[in-house]
Amino acid sequence: MEICIGPSTAMMVIAVLGALLCSVSVPGVSAQNPAGSVFIDCGSTASYVDPVTNMRWESDAPKYITQGVNALVPSAKATYPDLSELTTVRYFPDSLPYKNCYSLPVTPNNAYLIRATFFYGYYDNATTLPSFQMAIDGTIVANVTIENATAFVYHEFGVLSRPNASVIFLCLSRDSSNSVPFISAISLSSPLPANFYWPNDANFLKERKYFRTKYRLNFGGDRLVRFPDDSFDRYWFPEGVNSTFVNISTTPLQSLSNVSVINDGALWSYPPPAVLETALTTTNSMRISFPDTISEGYLGLYFAELDPTANNYSRQFEIKIPQALESQVMNPYNLAGGLDTVYVLIFYDLLEVNYVEMMIDPYSNTSGSSGPLVNALEFCELMQNEVALLTNDQDALSIEEIKSAYMDQLAEWTGDPCVPYPHPWVTCGIVDATVTNPSILAV
Ligand SMILES: *[C@@H]1O[C@H](CO)[C@@H](O)[C@H](O)[C@H]1NC(C)=O
Ligand SMILES: *[C@@H]1O[C@H](CO)[C@@H](O)[C@H](O)[C@H]1NC(C)=O
Ligand SMILES: *[C@@H]1O[C@H](CO)[C@@H](O)[C@H](O)[C@H]1NC(C)=O
Ligand SMILES: *[C@@H]1O[C@H](CO)[C@@H](O)[C@H](O)[C@H]1NC(C)=O
Ligand SMILES: *[C@@H]1O[C@H](CO)[C@@H](O)[C@H](O)[C@H]1NC(C)=O
Ligand SMILES: *[C@@H]1O[C@H](CO)[C@@H](O)[C@H](O)[C@H]1NC(C)=O
Ligand SMILES: *[C@@H]1O[C@H](CO)[C@@H](O)[C@H](O)[C@H]1NC(C)=O
Ligand SMILES: *[C@@H]1O[C@H](CO)[C@@H](O)[C@H](O)[C@H]1NC(C)=O
Ligand SMILES: *[C@@H]1O[C@H](CO)[C@@H](O)[C@H](O)[C@H]1NC(C)=O
Repeated sequence: MEICIGPSTAMMVIAVLGALLCSVSVPGVSAQNPAGSVFIDCGSTASYVDPVTNMRWESDAPKYITQGVNALVPSAKATYPDLSELTTVRYFPDSLPYKNCYSLPVTPNNAYLIRATFFYGYYDNATTLPSFQMAIDGTIVANVTIENATAFVYHEFGVLSRPNASVIFLCLSRDSSNSVPFISAISLSSPLPANFYWPNDANFLKERKYFRTKYRLNFGGDRLVRFPDDSFDRYWFPEGVNSTFVNISTTPLQSLSNVSVINDGALWSYPPPAVLETALTTTNSMRISFPDTISEGYLGLYFAELDPTANNYSRQFEIKIPQALESQVMNPYNLAGGLDTVYVLIFYDLLEVNYVEMMIDPYSNTSGSSGPLVNALEFCELMQNEVALLTNDQDALSIEEIKSAYMDQLAEWTGDPCVPYPHPWVTCGIVDATVTNPSILAV
């Protein structure tokens, strides 16, 4: 669906950055997965369409991985009835080889969101909770630690596919606990449009850095919003009045009409309407803070007036983020001429900070009595290290030839031969893989 809008249209988005333009992409109401996206239900023996989300989940082996064993997770259905992809896992009982890699199909030089989801649920009846490592291509990106057997955890990254690469590897390896890695599901988004999260002039992915999704919050919501509301299948977690992020005590607001999110051409990463149609509000001051430390990243705060009795003078508030920028006065009604408008405040060039507290206070000059309101928040953290380079082309090609000649024996050679360090299949020269492509010394 394509929509072009002008300033007189009642439904629009105003972003503080950039002008109104013609736009595309109303998040999907379609039974088709978005082009280029791949949803993998690890350990599932068949592909299927989930009746709740309409997502088409594919089974993982042998199409995307040649290693591991599948298992049922009997408790998943009762714990997360809407997440069918958690009812099976693939696990990797062999301690050799050192890495177990999925090959995710991509087009070169495109940005993607890649999410791995883990629901342990005592699938193996073990008594100690597992931990292991997750890598993307040649870089270890996460320590996956299961702290609560009956809660899922996920790790999501923004990544850029390599020039000429037709796959991105997602690998699991043992850590010093030597526990058995497992995985429930993988969601590879469709390629992200230009300016998704970061505009081109601040595109950290092109500087060989990944970003990690830290928080994505649906204030006032009562359910996890994802696909098909969000065509990139981002998880938007509901945060109610007892949120650990916000200290308020009033009743959440819900929109009586449909909020429309229309892209303004500056940035594409807006939350879907289902997220913006709920908000938390209070009559006095609001504080939003993060429960743990963060570093440099992208902070998005999203505002849409939802009170049907609102007018241009009923709500104004002032946002202060001492660590990041000067204060901003916000009138979510005024900006686009009425209800159904979304005001987006985005900081994509946060200085490095260890702690962020956002203070949202009624604006002293306002004549109205409605207090601050906030609909959604996102924080994506830039990973500090540059991503590793893969094994040099000549060596990797020779290895591929050996591999195809001995396919049956070497089926477990998945991912890159040398990286992530220290999980090679072969003997590699020791180099700093962020500087030089590793080379193979011996097979
Ligand atoms: C775990 O224990 C249950 C109940 O005793 C049993 O039915 C199931 O087969 C066991 N699963 C595994 C993987 O050992
Ligand atoms: C994993 O944990 C180790 C030890 O605490 C730490 O040094 C490393 O940076 C962590 N890796 C990631 C990707 O978070
Ligand atoms: C573990 O997760 C479940 C949700 O599945 C939650 O109800 C429970 O409180 C959590 N336990 C702990 C100790 O956090
Ligand atoms: C990509 O492939 C083309 C044609 O095979 C080659 O000329 C080019 O050097 C490759 N680029 C990179 C960055 O590997
Ligand atoms: C929020 O917490 C308070 C105090 O613990 C409790 O009385 C109230 O019921 C909670 N509200 C909701 C909606 O969970
Ligand atoms: C939230 O915290 C701020 C600052 O600590 C405080 O001024 C305000 O009264 C608190 N609001 C509520 C509703 O607890
Ligand atoms: C919002 O949109 C949904 C789906 O199109 C529709 O069913 C509902 O009636 C709409 N609500 C309002 C208040 O317009
Ligand atoms: C609405 O309020 C803003 C101040 O927040 C003011 O600048 C603007 O002129 C007002 N618009 C109308 C139509 O009154
Ligand atoms: C309040 O409004 C007056 C008149 O419009 C203006 O001069 C003053 O700077 C405003 N105060 C603040 C804190 O912005």
